Amino acid sequence: MARIGATANGGVNRQALTPEDTEGRRLLLQWARARGYTAAIDPIGNLFIRRAGSRADLSPVMTGSHLDSQPTGGKYDGVYGVLAGLEVLETLDDHNVVTERPIELVVWMNEEGSRFGPVTMGSAVAAGAVSLERALATNDARGTSVSEALAQQVAQLAPLESRPLGATGHAYIEAHIEQGPVLEQEARDIGVVSAIQGLHLYQVEVRGFEAHAGTTPSRHRKDALVAASALIAKLRAEVADPADVLRFTVGRFEVAPGSPHIVPGKVTFSIDLRHPDPEHLLRTGERILELCAGEIEACTVCAKVMLRSSPVQFDTRLVAAVRNAAEHRGFGYMSMVSGATHDAKYMAERTPTAMIFVPSEKGISHNELEHTDDEDLAAGAQILCDAVLAAAAMEL
Ligand code: GLV
Ligand code: MN
Ligand code: MN
Repeated sequence: MARIGATANGGVNRQALTPEDTEGRRLLLQWARARGYTAAIDPIGNLFIRRAGSRADLSPVMTGSHLDSQPTGGKYDGVYGVLAGLEVLETLDDHNVVTERPIELVVWMNEEGSRFGPVTMGSAVAAGAVSLERALATNDARGTSVSEALAQQVAQLAPLESRPLGATGHAYIEAHIEQGPVLEQEARDIGVVSAIQGLHLYQVEVRGFEAHAGTTPSRHRKDALVAASALIAKLRAEVADPADVLRFTVGRFEVAPGSPHIVPGKVTFSIDLRHPDPEHLLRTGERILELCAGEIEACTVCAKVMLRSSPVQFDTRLVAAVRNAAEHRGFGYMSMVSGATHDAKYMAERTPTAMIFVPSEKGISHNELEHTDDEDLAAGAQILCDAVLAAAAMEL
């Protein structure tokens, strides 16, 4: 899978609904069809691969993650959960294990939110947190809409059965790389994930006045870049957290018109803000909105909320199933809260959900150097298999 969209530095660029994403999905479907699994797609492009159970009337145990990547993404973020899920389905076949419930592997559309915002688009639409119309109308930087790009992908993956929005199941268990340094530092094999911290996304616009770089004295300038830089420094000071729990990131920063010879007239930047405590997150978010309103350095500032995703707690019975599996297999494990967001966040609102983490070398992720050792990947897949089977047998 990592050959599709491979980058020179060992990572992948397989952003949502690009030809590379379509190619990745096609390869997965090829593997799934070779095993006789059926496949269906919903109106926002979430893909469902089903291994039948002995009772078609029962809701499925679901697992999965995403195949799309950041523009300079690693080989494991998302892909691991999809391929570990496929491995579980195949292993059940190899060992002639019959489950009453179907087991379904889901590939969520646009988890990364780098080409089209917001992050976790497919699962958010499936959960009703973002409307289908709004998601389909979202454009990328070149003006291509989700709707157009998705229609192209669906045509290329045809024939695929259609299914309505609103995926739910008996349980959902997602395996993922940790994307942080904790498991490695603590020398544990498995992260038993109990919750996902909250995430707010803001877009800030700073408006100045375009002027000649050679002729305009400082006192006449309304330099949007100068104002934006001062604002970011102020915001950083404001949200500084001695406990280092709050996460504040400006990851996108666009200067217009972007000529070396024009005083910038407009800057747009993003703020990704995260915290496990919903009240703390909300308070900090409100403070950021206050500071991003009015005037700074002779420029006007306004901000809008792009996404407010509150923290979520996973199902204690499924979390216990993951812990028991790790204990039973003799792996070193620890309980943890996910710093990254995941599609499991939206599944958890509608279906009993849990997640399994495996270590990330040096904690590096959202980076082409992302790496996890094969034996850690295998350990996580084993725990996923155990937890999926346990969930299939549970009353939830
Ligand atoms: C997911 O990719 C995140 O940014 O948390
Ligand atoms: Mn991911
Ligand atoms: Mn990611």
